[in-house]
Amino acid sequence: MILSLAFSFLFLFLGAAFWWILDAKQRKLLPPGPRGLPIVGSLLNLGSLPHRTFHELSKKYGPIMSLRMGSVPSIVVSSPEAAQLFLKTHDSAFAARPQMEAVAHMSYGNNGISFTNGTYWRHVRKFVVQELLAPAKVNSFRGMRRDEVGLVVEEIKKAAVAGEVVNVSDKVGGLIENMTFRFLLGRSKDDRFDLKGIMTEAFTLAGQFNLADFVPSLKPLDLQGLTRKYKETGKKLDAMLELIIEEHEQNLNTGTRTNNRDIVDEMISLSKNDSSVNHQELAKLIDRSSIKSIMIDIITAAIDTSFTLIEWILTELMRHPRAMKKCQEELTCVVGLDRLVEETDLPKLEYLYMVIKEGMRLHPIVPLLGPHEAKEDIVVNGYHIPQKSRIIVNAWAIGRDSKVWGNNALEFIPERFSESKIDLRGRDFELLPFGSGRRGCPGMQLGLLSVQLVLAQLLHCFDWELPHGKSAEDMDMTEQFGLTIPRIEHLLLVPKLRI
Ligand code: HEM
Repeated sequence: MILSLAFSFLFLFLGAAFWWILDAKQRKLLPPGPRGLPIVGSLLNLGSLPHRTFHELSKKYGPIMSLRMGSVPSIVVSSPEAAQLFLKTHDSAFAARPQMEAVAHMSYGNNGISFTNGTYWRHVRKFVVQELLAPAKVNSFRGMRRDEVGLVVEEIKKAAVAGEVVNVSDKVGGLIENMTFRFLLGRSKDDRFDLKGIMTEAFTLAGQFNLADFVPSLKPLDLQGLTRKYKETGKKLDAMLELIIEEHEQNLNTGTRTNNRDIVDEMISLSKNDSSVNHQELAKLIDRSSIKSIMIDIITAAIDTSFTLIEWILTELMRHPRAMKKCQEELTCVVGLDRLVEETDLPKLEYLYMVIKEGMRLHPIVPLLGPHEAKEDIVVNGYHIPQKSRIIVNAWAIGRDSKVWGNNALEFIPERFSESKIDLRGRDFELLPFGSGRRGCPGMQLGLLSVQLVLAQLLHCFDWELPHGKSAEDMDMTEQFGLTIPRIEHLLLVPKLRI
């Protein structure tokens, strides 16, 4: 009896010792990082601008850093070399997305593109890239974009003649919304329902920090009341999207659609298996929830990104009048002063493209890219990355890395791109505003086109001044963290007619 007790004790002791050594070994192999508190980990130390906090921490712990956010092991990546390891060398291992509560309740869970995984996501993404956002489809809406930009130019002209201050943030935000809605739904404004209003409500909720995403055991308690709000907003959103789809179905059935087929038309055709043979597999999988979820994903991904970027770039140009002047001189040279900018002019505007790259370097609108998740246990650069780790690529920190960008990394100098071959399309890991690899942005062509077109038109048609009594030094450059990082203040400017 005593002997068997002794054996059991020895067995337990050896087991515990083995587990302790293994765990310590695994802990040791994790990338370096702050230890954090029990249960919450480092969550309480992230501050209101986590990209800046991660940047500071990475100076101490290095470009591959580990920390715990609640119970979620997280890896923060902060150099081009490290980003290449996660987004190219081991891209397939990190191409998953974590499941988030906001998506589950407001965007039909696993049915869209931005937060789905596996085979379904591969099929949806292929369809979105090859059909919905293909260059031919984007180009077929050129006339629509010309009309929408033209309307805003006319409004600003009136303000210029009257010498009024223009809220450029509101004007550009409205313009990008209208262009996106016409591309997606075939119409910009609809008095019967307030899709813009409800989407703003959903954005605001989705941008709030939800503790339950990081400490799942707290989910049933709904401590912040967010689950209840997600459900309420999700319900309102669903009713509107249903109405939009029904209308599109009727138009398709009765053949009353006269203009270009919009994105919702394309998705309905696919779900009814009327689409091309390329997407037969997806046609079997896609249903009404998928259509609604993809609509939400496109609205979310397209509007705030493009609009926020234009706002930041105009702000930088106001602070750097020499760069503004160079853009306008280029426009005069390429376009002249007796007509508006056309999309076909854009590839010739090389300096404007440098300004956009520099704007995206200093203000990557999605500073931490989308959240990636490790599909399995994997070793990267000698470090153990546990399955289900959250991978956070700090594009904001990479864009400010003085080892890459030199001692003037924090200054706005578009000319740095006249010598450099670094581009922003995801091949160069020094500049990642659209991400890279399997999860890289599929709307990059449309996003860039909208940003180039709107900026070119605003700089070509108008000179811009700050309201009386304000100077460039007064411009508040504070960021606000959410789904994107806009400037905390709206951009208010006085336009003067230029052409
Ligand atoms: C200047 C404008 C834009 C910027 C800066 C931008 C940036 C990004 C970034 C950083 C990501 C995440 C990449 C990652 O997680 O690694 C992303 C994903 C995505 N973007 Fe964009 N985007 C822009 C415009 C657009 C537009 C116009 C659309 C569609 C019409 C779009 C659709 C998407 C979608 C669907 C995803 C998710 C892809 C997936 O998870 O597979 N984006 N974008």
